[in-house]
Amino acid sequence: MNRTKPETPDSETTDETLLRTDDVTKKFGQLTAINDVSMSIPEGEITSIIGPNGAGKTTLFNLFTGKYEPTSGQIRFRDERIDGMAPHDIVDKGVVRSFQITNFFDDLTTRENVRLATQARYSGFGASDFLRHYTSLDGAVDDAEAVLERVHLLDVADRQASNLSYGQRRHLEIGIALAAGPDLLLMDEPTAGMSPEETLDTVELIEEIASDTTLVLIEHDMDIVMDISEFIVVMNEGELIARGDPAEIRTDDRVQRAYLGGE
Ligand SMILES: Nc1ncnc2c1ncn2[C@@H]1O[C@H](COP(=O)(O)OP(=O)(O)OP(=O)(O)O)[C@@H](O)[C@H]1O
Ligand SMILES: [Mg+2]
Repeated sequence: MNRTKPETPDSETTDETLLRTDDVTKKFGQLTAINDVSMSIPEGEITSIIGPNGAGKTTLFNLFTGKYEPTSGQIRFRDERIDGMAPHDIVDKGVVRSFQITNFFDDLTTRENVRLATQARYSGFGASDFLRHYTSLDGAVDDAEAVLERVHLLDVADRQASNLSYGQRRHLEIGIALAAGPDLLLMDEPTAGMSPEETLDTVELIEEIASDTTLVLIEHDMDIVMDISEFIVVMNEGELIARGDPAEIRTDDRVQRAYLGGE
């Protein structure tokens, strides 16, 4: 594999760049879902990826997490190539995605679900780990309590996961992602389908997580995007059409034409 660095990177890389893509293209057969995208995710900030349906936002996440390999181009996390790495190795590096789809056990309590996730971090993933009693790993137990508190679920920790409200289930998914100890947490539409109160609570939670974790959000609600993002990347039909802070994005002609004006 060619591991030499490109001489003239398109994306502006700074000391604070945590993840970057260089000329990444992803094709699905004839369809170019991501077209020659170079971007960097600044460390310690909230970055939002926005753009119309089908713009390629979720595909970017799938490339970051190793679910897909780029057709061409490179992806680096802390200056290490991660394109082509197995998804679990990328998780071990610290890149973790919070899943929209249910990835916890309905029959277990909230606490048991979070403990299984923290235990997986201490002992590695594997079938035998699920047989070991979770209290044998004290660090995992302490971490689980901290995660439960962080995602505002301590008061429902003993409730069976299937009995949580929709918003609480989404928080449990975030908790399971946090249990992996991410340096970079990816969240795809974290407030989708939530009531206004659940949305407010989740935005608060996102800002709390951002105090010590770099976040990338895919979010359709422009009020939320403009309110909490420090950096915004705008995608349209597989191409990166703008990046900047909220004020820059709000006034960008191309963004208004392609996206904001079209809504
Ligand atoms: N596994 C796949 N196989 C074939 N085509 C795919 C696959 N994944 C995504 N695509 C296509 O790639 C394009 C980008 O899809 P993607 O899901 O990344 O868009 P998105 O910006 O997340 O859209 P949305 O806002 O609707 O979630 C779409 O045309 C989609 O149909
Ligand atoms: Mg999507």
